[in-house]
Amino acid sequence: MENTFAIHLEGRDTPFPCRGGETVLEALDRAWGPGGRAMIGAKRIPTGCRRGGCGVCRVQVLAGRYRTGPTGRNHVSVEEEGEGYALACRLTPESDLTVRPALKVPVRAEIPPYTLSPPGRGPG
Ligand code: FES
Repeated sequence: MENTFAIHLEGRDTPFPCRGGETVLEALDRAWGPGGRAMIGAKRIPTGCRRGGCGVCRVQVLAGRYRTGPTGRNHVSVEEEGEGYALACRLTPESDLTVRPALKVPVRAEIPPYTLSPPGRGPG
């Protein structure tokens, strides 16, 4: 018989169950439905590609044992991995877990100000 672990989301009273071998994102979908409905105040764990490619399901594991599948380094660096950051779609618990949503907001490139040419002066 497979184990079932309790996944506690920081800021939410009720944990949800995650079956042995299941990822946290799969368990989340089963518990609250697909499409990232795990609202925790203004925070949530969104659902995207489900394959470790988009990074939207990024979390930080605050407590518990787990293993992770292949993860793009642009979403979780080696240093962050050591601090418990992982992608929920690649995160398989090996004990009860406490996780916190940790969506990485991309740094926007600096956009130069839009300038207009003086009125009435076309080319030539
Ligand atoms: S849903 Fe895309 S990386 Fe997890």
